[in-house]
Amino acid sequence: MSTLIISQLIKLGFAITILLYLCSKTVESKCKSDCNLGLASYYVQRGETLELISGYFNNVNVTDIVSYNRDRIPNKDSLEAGTRINIPFPCGCVNDTFLGHVFSYAFRKGDTYESVAQFNYTNLTTFGWIQEVNSFLPDNVPVGAIINVPVNCSCGNSSVSMDYGLFITYPLRAQDSLSSISKQFGLNESLLQEYNPGANFSAGDGIVYIPGKDESGNYLPLVLRTYFVFVAGLAGGVIIGICIAAVIIIIILSVWVYLRCIKRKKVNKASLLPEKSENQLSGSIGEAGGSTNIPGVNIDKSVEFSYEELAKSTDNFNFSFKIGQGGYGTVYFAELRGEKAAIKKMDIQASKEFFAELKVLTHVHHLNLVRLLGYCVEDSLFLVYEYVENGNLSQHLRSSGRDPLQWSTRVQIALDTARGLEYIHEHTVPLYIHRDIKPANILINNNFQAKVADFGLAKLSDVGNGTLPTRLVGTFGYMPPEYAQFGEVTPKVDVFAFGVVLYELISAKEAVVKQSNSAVELTSLADLFEDALSKPDPNEITKLIDPRLGDDYPLESVRQVAELAKACTHDNPHLRPSMKSVVVALTTLSSATGNWDIDSFYGNDALLNRVSGR
Ligand SMILES: Nc1ncnc2c1ncn2[C@@H]1O[C@H](COP(=O)(O)OP(=O)(O)O)[C@@H](O)[C@H]1O
Ligand SMILES: *[C@@H]1O[C@H](CO)[C@@H](O)[C@H](O)[C@H]1NC(C)=O
Ligand SMILES: *[C@@H]1O[C@H](CO)[C@@H](O)[C@H](O)[C@H]1NC(C)=O
Ligand SMILES: [Mg+2]
Repeated sequence: MSTLIISQLIKLGFAITILLYLCSKTVESKCKSDCNLGLASYYVQRGETLELISGYFNNVNVTDIVSYNRDRIPNKDSLEAGTRINIPFPCGCVNDTFLGHVFSYAFRKGDTYESVAQFNYTNLTTFGWIQEVNSFLPDNVPVGAIINVPVNCSCGNSSVSMDYGLFITYPLRAQDSLSSISKQFGLNESLLQEYNPGANFSAGDGIVYIPGKDESGNYLPLVLRTYFVFVAGLAGGVIIGICIAAVIIIIILSVWVYLRCIKRKKVNKASLLPEKSENQLSGSIGEAGGSTNIPGVNIDKSVEFSYEELAKSTDNFNFSFKIGQGGYGTVYFAELRGEKAAIKKMDIQASKEFFAELKVLTHVHHLNLVRLLGYCVEDSLFLVYEYVENGNLSQHLRSSGRDPLQWSTRVQIALDTARGLEYIHEHTVPLYIHRDIKPANILINNNFQAKVADFGLAKLSDVGNGTLPTRLVGTFGYMPPEYAQFGEVTPKVDVFAFGVVLYELISAKEAVVKQSNSAVELTSLADLFEDALSKPDPNEITKLIDPRLGDDYPLESVRQVAELAKACTHDNPHLRPSMKSVVVALTTLSSATGNWDIDSFYGNDALLNRVSGR
């Protein structure tokens, strides 16, 4: 009995500490957000397209950009260099410290913090500001690393005017002045100066905030958020008083709850992490007495994490816990209930991808598929995975900070990936198609085992008939022709993408590469290899091999993998091998003694097709 009381007291103390901490945070908070949108004034440079620009800004929809620039973008397929366009972006209070948004940018060869700020983000941010929110030393950023790019924004100022609540983050250029901007925007000079106290509009650099218009061409009024006004409007002492009162109320409530509960038998909570056994996963949430009911997904209530728990273990999703960024979410490291975990935080808008992934990973368990520990649907959408320690394959192939992978490891990674894919294509009920196979979605653990991740785009495989064309999703460079053209989704879509990954394992090049004789023209890695393979000179292929392998590889093995990749990336989906045949071929290949036969990786189906000329 006495141990029970002690444990309750400890919990109570814990709750009070957290509350006090939260209260102190509120008092400290350096920014408040009265809007959720900002506009970034982007300076278009030669040859840039809306798609490219959208890539810098979290892939904001091109149609959204156009709708905020009705008069500035007459033709969305050709932008005029030297003009400015407004890019809509989320404007919020980041980490309680500044009003803005943090974009992710994949560092490329030749980039510096300075070039990213000045060129890619056209001075919407600065070298120093980027440096402040990244842990890499400025001259030691690995190629392929995802860096944070902060862009500031403004929601307005109630003491200047209540008429404006949407603002353009506007980097000043040499030709700008207070009067030129005032004329251009039709706003009077003193208003602009009031919004930017102390700013010199003729300085030629620096950022000013200018009231902007929404999609329908109107100014948006400022709408103050009452909660924050309340907090900000009170003196610090009053707030602390309120906090202390809240703590006292909580103590009284907890004692009352404690007295009520003490007589009840303590129920032994089931382990909160899902077991690999099927029956654990078969109870529906509703039956288990829980509240959430997710259509089509049967998961035990026990895999649900609370928002508080996830936030606590990542210091409120602090940058320093960030380990990855994809198209749909930000991934954080956390230690949850004694187990290392990776938490993917997704916007509510990504609910389709969230449920797709939740559905697949709760049904499917395999050594070569990342394991799901749980999920959470409060505030944002969260997926919690086992932590895979050693980064993704893209980093291993292309980040200078990593040791080069040996050839035998590369073959092993290919085989692991193939096994994961074969499993979802052939052995699960129902069968799935991944649709976004690429090195960034293949994770590596400390034993260099590979695990396929990111099932956000996974689709039920509707075997038998050609599936209905759907919205084209996936990553350019990994999409086979029948999918890009007709939206035809079959498991052979994954086989094609896997073939591209094999080429990347050989060459460490990206799926889309610049042609050597031209700085602008792009070509696919698959075409590059096919060219080389078709030449009689065996040296052609050697030229494409990752230089970081040195001479440390059996050329014959490399050649065989290249041939396999070629078969996987065949234009005709029927002539691509199945993942099952690929696994067989790679197994043979990885046991060096095995007899390699080019036809061994064509499944019988494909062989028949070839014979009958289908
Ligand atoms: N379980 C994990 N363990 C370690 N790192 C992970 C894990 N899951 C994702 N990551 C990292 O986060 C990145 C993005 O994750 P991903 O699931 O692909 O997100 P998205 O759906 O947004 O593309 C990955 O490329 C990887 O570097
Ligand atoms: C950003 O500012 C720098 C220095 O003022 C200037 O050289 C550069 O051209 C600017 N970038 C763009 C895209 O205007
Ligand atoms: C953005 O705001 C932060 C915090 O107010 C400030 O330190 C930083 O210099 C600003 N960055 C730019 C580029 O204006
Ligand atoms: Mg991804």
